[in-house]
Amino acid sequence: MATHVITGAGSGIGAAVARRLHERGDDIVLHARDAGRAKELAAAFTGARTLVGDLSDPDRLSWAFSHQTLPERVDSLLHIAGVVDLGPVGELTPKTWRNQLNVNLIAPAELTRLFLPQLRVAQGHVIFVNSGSGLNAHADWSAYAASKHGLKALADSLREEEHGNGVRVTSVYPGRTASPMQAKVHQQEGKEYDASKWIDPESVATVILMALDLPRDAEVNDLTVRPGR
Ligand SMILES: NC(=O)c1ccc[n+]([C@@H]2O[C@H](COP(=O)([O-])OP(=O)(O)OC[C@H]3O[C@@H](n4cnc5c(N)ncnc54)[C@H](OP(=O)(O)O)[C@@H]3O)[C@@H](O)[C@H]2O)c1
Repeated sequence: MATHVITGAGSGIGAAVARRLHERGDDIVLHARDAGRAKELAAAFTGARTLVGDLSDPDRLSWAFSHQTLPERVDSLLHIAGVVDLGPVGELTPKTWRNQLNVNLIAPAELTRLFLPQLRVAQGHVIFVNSGSGLNAHADWSAYAASKHGLKALADSLREEEHGNGVRVTSVYPGRTASPMQAKVHQQEGKEYDASKWIDPESVATVILMALDLPRDAEVNDLTVRPGR
């Protein structure tokens, strides 16, 4: 049975992916920012293991994990957690920049480093949930877009480095998806939020599972998903 380590499983796209994998009986290890959130995830996903570490403080992840039992086998590492804060460059503070770079870029790099030994043994798969902002940067999106452009670079370098070890690497670039993150974006844009206008997280989950389940003769490198309406 495959074991998947998933970040961001408490909400939006990550919750949809975790549900699908859990329902089909795969082993899931759910990452949570703190012990309270881990308890909630364990209650929501019967039998799931949890792993605690705050992604906004990537320097401490290795220390945090050294006090927990890590899964011995990892077939896939799904980087889905993320944060966004909009604002013009003229107003964004280093704190806002740092938080998005930490959660969206440096923590995924650190988690990948920590799980690479298991991923190599399993000839596993690393999936990065990126964003349209990882390909194009627009006004007011600089810090988030920089973190996601960086995430693309991380994925592309990792793919080349680990190809020979049999580790597959996929970036998924969703457009606006109905989730608490998108509700916050609308609030910051001063627009009314209508979830029905945007991609259902279940559709992004379908795309992620397709990449994950593809037979080993092929590897999906990059997938862009746009709202259909
Ligand atoms: N929604 C969109 O329109 C959209 C579009 C393109 C790309 N994306 C990307 O898709 C991914 C999922 O987004 P979503 O829309 O599903 O967002 P979401 O509903 O806001 O979920 C974000 C998840 O990230 C976790 N997280 C945030 N900060 C964390 C931290 N410091 N430590 C640990 N976990 C943390 C949250 O944990 P808690 O549950 O504990 O808060 C939550 O589970 C993100 O990478 C996002 O950038 C989203």
